[in-house]
Amino acid sequence: MIFPIVAYGAQVLRKIAVDIEPGYPGLSQLIEDMWETMYASNGVGLAAPQINKDIRLFVMDSAQIFENIEEEDKGKYPDEPGIKKVFINAHLLELGGEEWPYNEGCLSIPKIREDILRPEKVVLAYMDENFVSHTETFNGLTARIIQHEYDHIEGKLFIDYLKPLKKKLLKGKLSDISKGKVKVDYKMVFLK
Ligand code: NI
Repeated sequence: MIFPIVAYGAQVLRKIAVDIEPGYPGLSQLIEDMWETMYASNGVGLAAPQINKDIRLFVMDSAQIFENIEEEDKGKYPDEPGIKKVFINAHLLELGGEEWPYNEGCLSIPKIREDILRPEKVVLAYMDENFVSHTETFNGLTARIIQHEYDHIEGKLFIDYLKPLKKKLLKGKLSDISKGKVKVDYKMVFLK
């Protein structure tokens, strides 16, 4: 089932999401639906708050990016050819390395893309879909997407990193998105 994507302006995107227990009702179906929703909207990551669930669950597929990368960018990232992974109960342990800019977007904030600085390395504690615990270090574009999705389960959005002036310039666009005055080719839902 494809979920509608929660648009900017909804409170659920600003909540700190909660851990879930093994046996969370319908979890495997939910994960399957999140993959379906993510691919249907051409996303490379999707976090549960974006489908109106305040739980610490996100999925990401950095291989998607590498499949479509420009010839000149091949071999540029240490995580090529990317990974596809489910993250449950993720908690950030460490950020490291140099900050680097990348032009980010978000399914909940359509038609806005901005260069965002993030550290190159992230260390996460998380569980996989079988509730097996992992502590793992990620880098490259994989670390980039993970940090963006991790922010979602912490109630943060990529536009929060923009300088005040830049954010001011986007105010009208953001307000339009929250009111549903935006055209996208995937299903969205506009909540308070
Ligand atoms: Ni996002």
